[in-house]
Formats: sequence, structure tokens, C-alpha cells
Amino acid sequence: MAKLFSPINFKNVTLKNRIVMAPMCMYSCNQEDGKVTPFHVTHYTSRAVGQVGLIMLEATAVQPEGRISSQDLGIWDDDHVEGLTDLNRQIHHYGSKTAIQLAHAGRKAQLDSNIFAPSALAFNDSYKTPQQMTVEDIKETIEAFKAASKRAKQANFDIIELHAAHGYLINQFLSPLTNIRGDSYGGSRENRYRLLEEIISAVKQAWDGPLFVRISTDEYAEGGNSLEDFVYFSRRMREQGIELIDCSSGGVVPASISVYPGYQLPRCETIRKEANISTGAVGLITTGVQAEEIIQNERADLIFLARALLRDPYWPRTAATELNEKLSAPKQYERGW
Ligand SMILES: Cc1cc2nc3c(=O)[nH]c(=O)nc-3n(C[C@H](O)[C@H](O)[C@H](O)COP(=O)(O)O)c2cc1C
Repeated sequence: MAKLFSPINFKNVTLKNRIVMAPMCMYSCNQEDGKVTPFHVTHYTSRAVGQVGLIMLEATAVQPEGRISSQDLGIWDDDHVEGLTDLNRQIHHYGSKTAIQLAHAGRKAQLDSNIFAPSALAFNDSYKTPQQMTVEDIKETIEAFKAASKRAKQANFDIIELHAAHGYLINQFLSPLTNIRGDSYGGSRENRYRLLEEIISAVKQAWDGPLFVRISTDEYAEGGNSLEDFVYFSRRMREQGIELIDCSSGGVVPASISVYPGYQLPRCETIRKEANISTGAVGLITTGVQAEEIIQNERADLIFLARALLRDPYWPRTAATELNEKLSAPKQYERGW
């Protein structure tokens, strides 16, 4: 059997295969209230019908001022739990597990309200200059991640992923390019890791399921974190009980990035080996053969797919055909599978 279709466990959660729907913002909360809409139910449930092992919800804001846009999904209020619970019920019905990506945009929020970041540095001319967070602001944000995790548990998610990539708030603290603080949250890499460390500890008080973290493994800019820094962060995360590092890149500062199939994979592989932790590969993975090669050669444990799943919600079936595998179908679809 192709290893892509073999199950894998994270704590008490078994994924039926290695295929993950990568988090993708849909900016579809038209009421600007962060609540699940019929669109979200159709969008995520279709990929569950298509036999994706793990459906990860898009970046979901833990505080309203931490949204990228006013149409983002949210989990900052108890009122969000009902829609998320119903969405999970629909996805689970088809045998997929669910994850939520907890996020705070920091200086990359494009909102009318004030925005916050480790330091008062704008991303570029078209973004607002953020307010430098006080220690009190930081503590509030940590509590917001914890409260969001409690709600994620109430809503029956199987896995939580913390969004520490793409230049959003946690990433802004990790990077020396965006964090020029002089207190215990800035300066050395130990200090720059502190926010993530405290968020993980707080989340673990409310959540005992598997916890993943997405990082940007390359900042594509002089003076940014090196691969060695990311191995250090990943080791710290493993010590804190993180199950998997989802290895993306970029977004910290404006930069031009050369992309090609598997462009983020060498760093993912290094982190897996050097930090001795499971990893997720992402970035221009489009074919079954490519995904199978990554899993078989133990370069990553999970395959995250974004745009390929937008094009083809039944990508697992397409990949199975390519790899000469037979994938079981939802009962209703057996005659056409
Ligand atoms: C429409 C869209 C929205 C995205 N939103 C998110 C997001 O919410 N969180 C995140 O970590 N990455 C996000 N990404 C990045 C993807 O998860 C993925 O890392 C990237 O698209 C590369 O994978 P791909 O080549 O399979 O598309 C988004 C990508 C797309 C195309």
C-alpha cells in the first residue's frame, strides 16, 4: 500500500491517511462577526467527502484585533462555538479529523481598529504602523489563545495548530527583523521564543489533544532567523510537547521568493532530523507520486495541500488512481467511485 494512505497517530487521534487540507483563509464571514457560514460548511465538508485525512480550518482569530481582515473566521467569543461544533459534526461524518489554526495577525491586520505588534514597525507603506504591545497586552493575548483552545475543545476539534508563520504575531516575536524589544520578549532568541513558549504552556492548560505549530522556516532576508535558529525553536517546541512542526516559509518581511515543487522541503527535512520531531511538508506539492516520495523517504510525516485541494476537492482519489491504490468512497458515492 502507498504510505500516503497509511494511518498515523498523534496522541489519541488517528488520521486515516497523511493528506492534510492546509489552512486557507477564505475571508467569507460576510457579517464580519467571525462566525461559520454555509460556505464554510460546503467548502470544508467537500474535502472530507473527498477523503482528506485531516481538514485544517483557516487562520481563525483569537482576538478581533488579531484578524487579517474583518471577514476572517473567529474564536474569540463563546458565540463562535456553535457554528464550529456543527462544522466539525459534518466533517467527522465522513471520517476525516479536524484541526483549527489559531491565529493573531499582529501588524499584518488590515482593520479599522488599532493594531498590535512586538515593535512599532509597519510591514510596508500600505500597512498601518502597529502599537508596540505592553506586557499587559502580551498577557491578554496569551489568555486569548488559552480561551480559544478551550472553545476549540468544546467544539470537538481533534487537533490545534498555532500559527507562528507568515509574519503574523507569533512570527513577529520570533524574528529579529520585526522584534526590536528591549525587554524579556525581545533580543536573544531565548527571549524572542518567550511569547510562543508562554502561549504553548497556556494552551496546554486548556487543551490535552495534539498540538501542531506552523513556522516560516526561511525569512528570505539578511538578519532574519537562520535554519539553525529554527532547529533551536523546534527543539524547544518538542520539549514542550508539540507533536508536529508544519514547515512553511516567508511572509515576515517583504521579499521575493523563488518557488518550485517542494521548495520548502529541504528545511522541513532538516528540522525533522535535527530536532527529532514530526513534520508536515507544504508548498507546491501537487501529485500523488511527489507526496508518496516525501513520506516514503521520511522527509516529512504529513503532506499539507492548499491550492491543489482548491482545484480538486477529491485530490486523494486522484492521487490514489495515480498510485494504483483503491480508496474507499462515502457510501452514497460508491457506484461512481
Ligand atoms: C487562498 C489561500 C489562503 C491561505 N491562508 C492561509 C492561512 O489561513 N494560514 C496559513 O498558515 N497559510 C495559508 N495559506 C498558505 C497555504 O496554507 C500553503 O502554505 C501555501 O499555499 C503553499 O501550499 P500550496 O502550494 O499547496 O498551495 C493560504 C494559501 C492560499 C492559497
